[in-house]
Amino acid sequence: MKIAIASDHAGFEMKEFAKNFLQDSGYDVLDLGTNDCSSVDYPSFADKMAEAILGGKAEAGVLVCGTGIGISIRANRHKGIRAALLYSDEVAEMAKKHNNANVIVFGGRTMNKEDVARRIKIFFATEFEGGRHQKRIDMLDY
Ligand code: RB5
Repeated sequence: MKIAIASDHAGFEMKEFAKNFLQDSGYDVLDLGTNDCSSVDYPSFADKMAEAILGGKAEAGVLVCGTGIGISIRANRHKGIRAALLYSDEVAEMAKKHNNANVIVFGGRTMNKEDVARRIKIFFATEFEGGRHQKRIDMLDY
């Protein structure tokens, strides 16, 4: 599975960590930047992610900004993107089971690496339940 990853400066260190974790777990990772800690604007990286997912360059994505909030807001303005901020292990599971999220989001300044790695693992190990949840997902993009 190809997974795209992107962050702003506040998420850069966590992005590098998540990228290595994904690669070590056997995923093919497409890094969309940013490439260092210089200040950048998180909406641009949410846009790059949406372009990669909607354009078929990756099947899923990981986004990181300081809190995970701004980059989630922007990503979710693109039709077809379902970005979920994984603030707990339970949410990591539900984001796949019920929401079939195609982008998962973390806060580089608000989460620790151990939690992020565990939530990535939980999310990708979980299956979407479909059924009634598919109908609701279809309603998201009306
Ligand atoms: C950048 O300073 C910070 O505002 C950004 O990374 C993010 O937390 C916004 O939601």
